[in-house]
Amino acid sequence: MAEAELLRVEGLKKYFNTPGGLLHAVDNVNFTVNRGETLGIVGESGCGKSTLGRVILRLYEPTAGRVFFEGFNIFTYSKQAMKRTRRDMQIIFQDPFASLNPRMTVSETISEALIIQRLYSPMDKEGLEKRSLELMEMVGLAPRLINTYPHELDGGRRQRIGIARVLALNPKLIICDEPVSALDVSIQAQILNLMQDLQDELGFTYLFITHDLSVVKHLSDDILVMYLGQMVEKAPAAKLFEKPIHPYTQALLSAIPVPDPDFNVKRTILKGELTSPIDPAPGCRFARRCPQARESCLGEDIPFRELEKDHFAACTMA
Ligand SMILES: Nc1ncnc2c1ncn2[C@@H]1O[C@H](COP(=O)(O)OP(=O)(O)O)[C@@H](O)[C@H]1O
Ligand SMILES: [Mg+2]
Repeated sequence: MAEAELLRVEGLKKYFNTPGGLLHAVDNVNFTVNRGETLGIVGESGCGKSTLGRVILRLYEPTAGRVFFEGFNIFTYSKQAMKRTRRDMQIIFQDPFASLNPRMTVSETISEALIIQRLYSPMDKEGLEKRSLELMEMVGLAPRLINTYPHELDGGRRQRIGIARVLALNPKLIICDEPVSALDVSIQAQILNLMQDLQDELGFTYLFITHDLSVVKHLSDDILVMYLGQMVEKAPAAKLFEKPIHPYTQALLSAIPVPDPDFNVKRTILKGELTSPIDPAPGCRFARRCPQARESCLGEDIPFRELEKDHFAACTMA
């Protein structure tokens, strides 16, 4: 294990048995994330991003593969060991309202996390309040909000509570599953800035899952693009935007709205439907929608290859 490595995912698969057949939600995913870095994971809804996040946290048992956290394969851990490790691996969801208890105030929500992890005794009211206020300040929540309930706050402030609750546990890895997708664009930018500042200050490692490439552009060190459970491209963020190799990445990029109306981009319109990866045939899963598809795209799986330094893709055209 390299010194800097925090998380390594190897050959990870998660298949679901469905009435229609075996659904390959996550199909042979491999990557490494170093401490203090951010890996953006991008793809359309249904491509397996949330399933991937859940398997990494072992909220779902994998079909195959290994997940190394700080050098150890967590799939070999006992329940007890997993419980300890899970404090270091936290998740932030899209809808904080759904993950916050509507009957708990801001301070109760944060205190609960501190108590569950035995960082504070429930009797230590003063300590809990002091720590809650500290955490609220870190996420930009005014002290006067300490006794408010989730329904009294807007989406941005609710997501700030969700972040404070995760910070309370002082994790090493934070999996962010579409954390800003439910928010207005202006609020999105504020939350993204907050997350970046917290990382700069506290050195967290992020897995940042989103269907919206523009959200991870500035936050990510590397970006991994997924399509129907598989990796199609991975590169440092700037390289991916500058020179996308896979036609699917090109299509995703061309769908990002460009604010300047005089700036003309060649748009690729994605044709066809996103299907479910049920009993998928070998070959590129994007081929049926791909404007550049040819015969060699079907029949056998396309290797995920390093085509330029640190730039990987699975495409016959490359
Ligand atoms: N518990 C489950 N049982 C069966 N199929 C599931 C389950 N969870 C997710 N899926 C399927 O797995 C695929 C990936 O879903 P998901 O990971 O939620 O994608 P994303 O987060 O990228 O939108 C989808 O086809 C979805 O219908
Ligand atoms: Mg999802």
